Amino acid sequence: MIGNKRDVVRGLKDVAAAETRISYVDPSGRLYYMGYDIDDLIGKVVYSEVAFLLVHKRLPNQEELDAFNTDLIENMRLPSDVVECIRRAPKESHPMDMLRTEVSRLGLYDPEALDISPEACLKKAVKLIAQVPTIVATIHRTKQGKEVLEPRSDLSLAENFLYMFKGTVPNSDEADVIHRIMILHADHGFNASTFAARVTASTNADMYSAVTTAIGTLRGPIHGGASQKVMEMLDDIGLEDEVEEYIYGILGEGKKIMGFGHRVYRAEDPRAKHLRNIVQNVCNRDRTAGLYEKCMLIEGIVHQRKNIYPNLDFYAAVAMDALGIPKEYYTPFFASSRIVGWVAHVIEQYEDAVLLRPLSNYIGEFGRPFVPIERR
Ligand code: COA
Repeated sequence: MIGNKRDVVRGLKDVAAAETRISYVDPSGRLYYMGYDIDDLIGKVVYSEVAFLLVHKRLPNQEELDAFNTDLIENMRLPSDVVECIRRAPKESHPMDMLRTEVSRLGLYDPEALDISPEACLKKAVKLIAQVPTIVATIHRTKQGKEVLEPRSDLSLAENFLYMFKGTVPNSDEADVIHRIMILHADHGFNASTFAARVTASTNADMYSAVTTAIGTLRGPIHGGASQKVMEMLDDIGLEDEVEEYIYGILGEGKKIMGFGHRVYRAEDPRAKHLRNIVQNVCNRDRTAGLYEKCMLIEGIVHQRKNIYPNLDFYAAVAMDALGIPKEYYTPFFASSRIVGWVAHVIEQYEDAVLLRPLSNYIGEFGRPFVPIERR
């Protein structure tokens, strides 16, 4: 037999593909950003502070944070051609498909797109952290036939995002919620989209290519696309007393409940705990209360039957609903926060300077007799 057989680790489960300092997903139910436990950050820092931490590998002082925030706001404006292309996109396009396309287009308008030097990468990181949320807000406003808004210098990046998306300046509760949601989505080890971004970066391709790869990967329903599916399920269920039958029905068919289970955590996802708290304590709407009750029932049944916990996407769906974000924008909001993790990992991958290129075990045939086309 030709070729060597190696053990295949299906789904790369439990395989460490590289070293990283950016975040650590502790299976026992903790998440660290650059060594800080998210339990110690949440409610105490703003989103751009976490963005600074992940990109610059340390927390900023107040002066540095103010300068970073100003830099981000100044970079939020999009090239006019990108806005025009959003206007001309087919009306039925999903916002994630539009986001993937427009992030790719951004690269065409950056004269330093192909420069992967550390200085150029930092500039591109700021642009992407600032412009991905603007693209998402522009898609929404355009689809609604509403005016596309300019960022305001008196708001932080996260608040500007919500303002430019909805058209109203967030009140203090809404501002608190959007900061928390974006912080909780900022990074998460070698998840599928981050790994995909790092594979692209490992070829020394530019940051726009790497982020476009990541967005395509995040879109899938068993990764970032799960939150939209969670809300579709919650809407589908109708009344609270239908929960049991509905969930047993899905499990009985051997299907998965969206927003549950995790590749790494063997205990509760710490982000789910914070999002549950947000939904319970901070968000205050009639619909949220009803959704929360349904979520608690689902959580109980799924844990009892499958011994698994809700992940980030389960309560993120309800928290975003409470902010008035339509469900097809949950994954774009995820991308607008995870952009921080992606660019930080892309920079780290350039520093590591190694091509990510595994092997496969070939299980096809050898020595098939070739037949010319006219005799096939
Ligand atoms: N609903 C019901 N059962 C689930 C489940 C879910 N959401 N997630 C995992 N399981 C079960 C599997 O059926 C399997 O059971 P079995 O051993 O009896 O066959 C077991 O748990 C292990 O699941 P597996 O799919 O092999 O784990 P994984 O590590 O490959 O997958 C996910 C992890 C996240 C892809 C998976 O849990 C999933 O698809 N969840 C739903 C989508 C989702 O919420 N994604 C967002 C992730 S942050």
